[in-house]
Amino acid sequence: MKDITINVIDESGKKHKLITPLEMGLNLMDVLRSHDLVEGACGGMALCATCHCYVESKHEISEQKDDELAMLDQLFSVDEERSRLACQIQIEESIDNITVKIASPD
Ligand code: FES
Repeated sequence: MKDITINVIDESGKKHKLITPLEMGLNLMDVLRSHDLVEGACGGMALCATCHCYVESKHEISEQKDDELAMLDQLFSVDEERSRLACQIQIEESIDNITVKIASPD
C-alpha cells in the first residue's frame, strides 16, 4: 500500500507530519480529524467550515465546486488564494508532501 505525506501547521503553529495511505478513499479532513486537528462537524458535506485550512505549498488540487465556494464565501478569515475546505480535497498522489495550515475558527 502506498502512502503520502501531509505536513500540517496547527492553530498554535505546531508542525505535524502525517503519513496516510492512498488507497482508502479518504479526504484530507478525514485524515486531519483522525489526528484531532480539525472538527469536521458536518462529516464532509461542505456545510460547516470546521475543516477550513490554508494550502501553503504549490500543489495542483482539484478545483473548488460551488458548495465549497459558497461556504468559504461566508468566512471572515478566507484567503482567496489559499483557503480550502479540507473535506473537499481527496487524498491522492498529486498532493504528496502538501503543506496546510489549519485556519482559526471565525
Ligand atoms: S467537514 Fe464540514 S465543511 Fe468540511
